[in-house]
Amino acid sequence: MCGIVGYVGKHEAAPIIVGGLRKLEYRGYDSSGIALLGDEEISIERATGKLINLEKRLEIRDWRLGESPISNLQSRLSVGVGHTRWATHGGVTEANAHPHISMDGDVAVVHNGIVENFVELRHALVAEGVVFKSETDTEVIVHLVARYLKQNMDLEMACHTAFAQLRGSEAIVVISMREPDKLIAARLGNAGGVVVGLGEGEGFVASDVPGILEHTRRVVFLEDREVAVVTANGTVIRQLNGAVVHKQPHAIAWDPISAEKGEYRHFMQKEMFEQARAITDTLRGRVNFETGEVSLPELKLEEVPSRIYTVASGTSLHSGMVGKFIIEKLAQVSVETDYSSEFRYRAPMIQPGMAVLGITQSGETADTLAAMASGRQQGARVWSIVNAIGSQAERISDGFIPMRSGPEISVCSTKTFVASIVDQYLLACALGQMGQAKRQEAFEAAKELTHLPNLMGRMLEANSIYESLANLYHDREHMLFLGRGINYPVALEGALKLKEISYIHAEGYPAGEMKHGPIALIDEHMPIVCIAVRDGVYEKMVSQIEQVRARHGIVIAVATEGDTDIVNKADHIIWVPKAPELLYPVITAIPMQRLAYEFALRRGCDVDQPRNLAKSVTVE
Ligand code: G6P
Repeated sequence: MCGIVGYVGKHEAAPIIVGGLRKLEYRGYDSSGIALLGDEEISIERATGKLINLEKRLEIRDWRLGESPISNLQSRLSVGVGHTRWATHGGVTEANAHPHISMDGDVAVVHNGIVENFVELRHALVAEGVVFKSETDTEVIVHLVARYLKQNMDLEMACHTAFAQLRGSEAIVVISMREPDKLIAARLGNAGGVVVGLGEGEGFVASDVPGILEHTRRVVFLEDREVAVVTANGTVIRQLNGAVVHKQPHAIAWDPISAEKGEYRHFMQKEMFEQARAITDTLRGRVNFETGEVSLPELKLEEVPSRIYTVASGTSLHSGMVGKFIIEKLAQVSVETDYSSEFRYRAPMIQPGMAVLGITQSGETADTLAAMASGRQQGARVWSIVNAIGSQAERISDGFIPMRSGPEISVCSTKTFVASIVDQYLLACALGQMGQAKRQEAFEAAKELTHLPNLMGRMLEANSIYESLANLYHDREHMLFLGRGINYPVALEGALKLKEISYIHAEGYPAGEMKHGPIALIDEHMPIVCIAVRDGVYEKMVSQIEQVRARHGIVIAVATEGDTDIVNKADHIIWVPKAPELLYPVITAIPMQRLAYEFALRRGCDVDQPRNLAKSVTVE
């Protein structure tokens, strides 16, 4: 949820930057900062808390009231970059707030994302004599750029050389005294967006369109591994390997809905592509990636419950079903999952010391609220994992985990499915770390999360397989989705996505159960999505695929890259990167969503507002 706004041009940079950051405030942050190029040096101001604290530092509050800008900074205020930070590496302190500056004061950097290999990069830099002033991973970027400037590279080359060493998904903006007429903006991976705004005699960069919309509607969006040099006279974009990229500017429409959709046709599409970022945001400040320690302050975790009852509806229940596997494995706490609408009318054996966990994007689903209330009545502790800030679910909980996915507009849930799985993973780690039996495993498991935004980003890359499959099979009236183990709920979710938005009848099933019913449906017309990643049940899944093939079903396998065995067993393969076993569902969920989206497009369905469905169901 960090925000970035940068400016180069004839107007004063500071008001434009702070004004832009204000437009991004709704995404949440806990500190902010700005770097401005002056005649002599880069001036940096940073403050914890709200933007008003930064404005006070800048003494430029008055221009908000229409008066002329006053600044205590010794600068021409024509080039600068600002940032609102939501803490990941390192606590909420002024020293950790961005921008970060090089030791010689020549370079300043702001950054969204996680530098996965920051520990090794930091060690190398420290060995060269670099003194770090913050606990952030970001600071390695500024020192790397400074290292290459000292080797007499120009700024663009120094940035390219530095960025090529970063592992992970990042959005980065750099300014430097060496070349004080430009901003360098980069997008590496798919966790954070970068938009470049084109003006007359000025240029802008931002993490999100609303940050610059007041000033320009002509924008270009950077893709993975693209680096832009933005000056007042124009923008040149190159790939990290040096090749120039020519892009047609997008014209952002004036109405707020189109503006919010940005480069996307539908909110569902936008929200799918926000998933790497949603994951980064839900991890922010909660995991120490060096030690693996997890902290979930809003949950107010005091003791490990003897059992957890997860209650939810729709997609949120499928997320809970994945969470059951994770929590039982990492925390050794038994988890029962149930539809909220069923749980509230049955007599679960709840005792004090147990917890009821409501998972709900909206925080307003009537059945889930009632199920949570009934858990409380029977003496359980009540927790929730919730996206909508301040919602009823949050208010009636003893403790909660915010999903931090930002608004989810499309009726069909996507980013909150993966974010809430990651939140349960964090919960499992936190519980595991409180106990003795799986303590070490729980610390190690938390460290695995550092790779997740990047893996997610890879799943969001352009891939024609989804379009090809939709072209071939969008006219079918039935489809099956099969998975085993932790990927079985993903099969349920795949079927739910497809039926929700394309109106194709789809069934999700645990693959081992197929022979007890759904196998009767299989013939040469039936496409069957089989989630067959390389995990502990891979062999079992392959034997179920054989059974499908024997009935001439069309096998669409979701398989792990490098799996040569699957090639002869499937009609089509959607490849996914290798991932830690308990995190596979976050990866395999993406093909389910992308398939459903492409099918719905070809069937002419209303993707964002499917018939008969509501985003938030506040009635029983
Ligand atoms: C509705 C929505 C689904 C959602 C379900 C639960 O049916 O259409 O997308 O999964 O409600 O909503 P919640 O807000 O409680 O997660």
